[in-house]
Amino acid sequence: MRFFGELHTTRKYTPIALLSRGYVDYTDGRFARIVAGAETTEREGIHALPKQIGIDLGTANVLVYMRGRGIVINEPSVVAIGTRDGHVKAVGLEAREMIGRHPETIEVVRPMRDGVIADYVVTQEMLKYFITKSCGRFSLVKPEVMICIPAGVTGVETRAVRDAALQAGARRAYLIQEPLAAAIGARIPVADPSGNMVIDIGGGTTEVAVISLNGIVVARSIRVGGNKFDDAIANYIKRKYNLAIGERTAEEIKILMGSAMPLDEDVVMDVRGRDQVAGLPRTIQIHANEVTEAITEPLEAIIGAVRGVLEETPPELSSDIIDKGMILTGGGALLRNLNELLTEVTGVPCYVAEDPLSCVAVGTGLALEHLDVLRDSLDTM
Ligand SMILES: Nc1ncnc2c1ncn2[C@@H]1O[C@H](COP(=O)(O)OP(=O)(O)OP(=O)(O)O)[C@@H](O)[C@H]1O
Ligand SMILES: [Mg+2]
Repeated sequence: MRFFGELHTTRKYTPIALLSRGYVDYTDGRFARIVAGAETTEREGIHALPKQIGIDLGTANVLVYMRGRGIVINEPSVVAIGTRDGHVKAVGLEAREMIGRHPETIEVVRPMRDGVIADYVVTQEMLKYFITKSCGRFSLVKPEVMICIPAGVTGVETRAVRDAALQAGARRAYLIQEPLAAAIGARIPVADPSGNMVIDIGGGTTEVAVISLNGIVVARSIRVGGNKFDDAIANYIKRKYNLAIGERTAEEIKILMGSAMPLDEDVVMDVRGRDQVAGLPRTIQIHANEVTEAITEPLEAIIGAVRGVLEETPPELSSDIIDKGMILTGGGALLRNLNELLTEVTGVPCYVAEDPLSCVAVGTGLALEHLDVLRDSLDTM
């Protein structure tokens, strides 16, 4: 039996002078080679990091996990492009800051939307940017890269992602299915001959899967994720209060006061937007239980997917799942009381993974370290 719970020991590297060109900021991640310890001399100590990186190419966030260093990049999947020349102006956090604040000469896009690649040329650029940022532009040792892409991605797009990784300097590029990566990252013993159920709720999709012996036995993927919750909140406020709010405000409401089940105590929040009739700015007060009501539809879709997978699961595996429970990963897992709601409606205990937002990235990285046993599961993509 192999258990993915054991993470290799994190080696301690010290940022230190490198090569004759001077000092390298190791936290910046642009240079790949660093020395192994402060006491080592420059020449003796220089060696390449084990260049293995796992990338969670999510519709909301891109995370990069580097072997020996953990998560080195965690930025939104946003790209700013010059409308005149088509050149990339900014990626990630910097690009997100430009949303709603840019002149006509710049367009800010999310190249991946609802679990599919909406613009794959820009997705390629974004991927190249993050690989270069984490491995270093002048790196001599090419990295091995494992990428997790949304389930709805087509074969052509899958190849485009793989090509982008190779063009960005990857020595080899592998792709992994999101629920498998999420389960590995959540330290679920996926190699056991036993049923393990994972529910990954991202920005664009929710993927529910039962995994045993390193493979997916039953799975469902729906295009409902955090973004649909935000849309539902914005629509509710528009309908009820005639107030238009932006997507970032809707997300803020969800994170600050969203709950999958009604809360006992009343929580109120001021929400600013534009009055639909007068066209002027207006502030209203929203109660937490209104938010719960607003997100009923996407919640029901997720419950439907979970029920569907449970119904299709072979009995032996079902009984394992009843014993062990279902594990929630992805940013959507952080919605208050979601695990309680799923436990209540299915009768199967549901738990939130530790650090659900980074499970997929950590899982892609660990998968690269266990390629020998996972190769069969990866070849399916
Ligand atoms: N505390 C929170 N409560 C509710 N939702 C949250 C919270 N924190 C983050 N989210 C939501 O999680 C989503 C992002 O999750 P994640 O980073 O797992 O998505 P992703 O992997 O980029 O998307 P996908 O897997 O669909 O491609 C966003 O919709 C965000 O609003
Ligand atoms: Mg994801």
